[in-house]
Amino acid sequence: MKTKKILIIGADGMLGRAVFDVLKSEDYFLLTPSREILDITDKKSIGNFIEANKPDLIINCSAYTNVNEAEDTGKELNYLVNHIGLKNVVDSTSQYNVVLIHFSTDYVFGENKQDGYTEDDLPHIQLNEYGCAKRLGEIEVEKSKNKFFIFRVSWLFGPGKKNFVSTIAELAQKNTELNVVDDEFGVPTYTYDVAQSLAKFLENIETYSSGYYHMVNEGICSRFEEAKFIIDHLKLNCVVNPIKLKDYKRKANVPHYSILINTKLPKLRFWQEAVAEYIDKYIKI
Ligand SMILES: NC(=O)c1ccc[n+]([C@@H]2O[C@H](COP(=O)([O-])OP(=O)(O)OC[C@H]3O[C@@H](n4cnc5c(N)ncnc54)[C@H](OP(=O)(O)O)[C@@H]3O)[C@@H](O)[C@H]2O)c1
Repeated sequence: MKTKKILIIGADGMLGRAVFDVLKSEDYFLLTPSREILDITDKKSIGNFIEANKPDLIINCSAYTNVNEAEDTGKELNYLVNHIGLKNVVDSTSQYNVVLIHFSTDYVFGENKQDGYTEDDLPHIQLNEYGCAKRLGEIEVEKSKNKFFIFRVSWLFGPGKKNFVSTIAELAQKNTELNVVDDEFGVPTYTYDVAQSLAKFLENIETYSSGYYHMVNEGICSRFEEAKFIIDHLKLNCVVNPIKLKDYKRKANVPHYSILINTKLPKLRFWQEAVAEYIDKYIKI
């Protein structure tokens, strides 16, 4: 089955634009309203849009994603968008037969499990407000009467927004030394690889059951290893010094181990290949 009319919420975001870019070349009719037209914190605006446009499928790429601000100044908006926003989307779609695809995050897991999390692991604790709100959002999506898919992604990079790869590339051009944490582990994941994987998933959507999927590149690294790879690939003269997470001051706590394991979808390529492609295509030095 090819779903014809797809509503992408958050199509202007880093992941949303990759999803739009990949799906636009497929045989889909894409609806990409801006936040001014469809604000997920406003139930009426979602209801009106769905009623008027009757999409077959919603892909929610929208979120409040400022993990540090979510600890204080952005706390209310974080819950409003990442939790209540999802409740609004689910409530507004319950009367229509709309399939919902939602993106979530590795930060729903705060257990610091060193060997990683599969889709069967249940998150029990979160270490930051963003992770808490995103977990509440997942629970709202689970209440959907229609088919739903929750794709967890992690450590995203891609064009359109400042991310770890672009930040390290920028800093390494301006500095001869950088301090990067070597005890924070995860899976860097390319927005375009997620979008390609999503496109393949849509081709066979009827063969998948509702539930959780971990859509991440293959491999695991520390932020230190990722930074070294970026700098080496760019052939920059910048030394990376390993530091500890406890010595890197940021508002939000993050897990030492935040590793998603994909056991249900076709494997994506290794993160190194994806980072190299992103740098070669989008990072100017
Ligand atoms: N970035 C990461 O490293 C990372 C890691 C793990 C998981 N994720 C998850 O991946 C998904 C995509 O993240 P991203 O980094 O691509 O996000 P992003 O670049 O911050 O984009 C978020 C998008 O959501 C829109 N938005 C915010 N509030 C909205 C509202 N109330 N109503 C409608 N739209 C709203 C934004 O609109 P405006 O353009 O108007 O602001 C923007 O287009 C999210 O679910 C995020 O939680 C991200």
